[in-house]
Amino acid sequence: MLVSLLLTLVQIQAKVFCYQYKVGDLDAWGIPTSANPQVYTKWSKYHNLTIGDSLLFLYPPSQDSVIQVTEESYKRCNIKDPILYMNNGNSLFNITSKGQFFFTSGEPGHCQKNQKLHISVGEGIIETMDTAPGPSSSLPASAPSYPTVFGNIPVAPSTSTSPQLTSTFQLLIIGFMICAYFASLM
Ligand SMILES: *[C@@H]1O[C@H](CO)[C@@H](O)[C@H](O)[C@H]1NC(C)=O
Ligand SMILES: *[C@@H]1O[C@H](CO)[C@@H](O)[C@H](O)[C@H]1NC(C)=O
Repeated sequence: MLVSLLLTLVQIQAKVFCYQYKVGDLDAWGIPTSANPQVYTKWSKYHNLTIGDSLLFLYPPSQDSVIQVTEESYKRCNIKDPILYMNNGNSLFNITSKGQFFFTSGEPGHCQKNQKLHISVGEGIIETMDTAPGPSSSLPASAPSYPTVFGNIPVAPSTSTSPQLTSTFQLLIIGFMICAYFASLM
């Protein structure tokens, strides 16, 4: 029970970390190269962003910055009066609401060279835990080993409780063996 709870927590943690997107993927935040002038347009097209996700902008802090601007400023490349200004080189923008978000560089001239990003955030997709493979599903496979250790243990009539019983016994055995191992070292 405790183990499966911990595994579930680990899975949730892993999912949370997966929701951080590096803007531009391999290309860091900067003026697009001539080889890939539409890098940020393409990037936003291929990523579905939802509430709770965050955007990571990576760039040399002395040479660039990130500003969040209005749609109007985005179109006109007006970098005055941004909504948000970030210049530490490792800027995380947390998406906390749905709607349209516009970003560009705070450096003069960069916006004109297509260093700009427009993302559209829709409704968050609620992921159900049912579809994820449960950690307990693998336990019944190893169940047949315990009757030989404990002798004839009556099989529980309900199939849903027996895997838990089995795992508890196995944990006790494993725990006992680990304790015995460490005790023998002392
Ligand atoms: C993004 O979401 C839309 C609508 O839910 C879907 O049609 C589209 O295929 C998704 N795109 C990607 C790249 O997952
Ligand atoms: C986003 O969240 C991270 C960590 O929770 C925080 O360090 C960062 O400052 C936040 N970004 C903004 C723009 O508030």
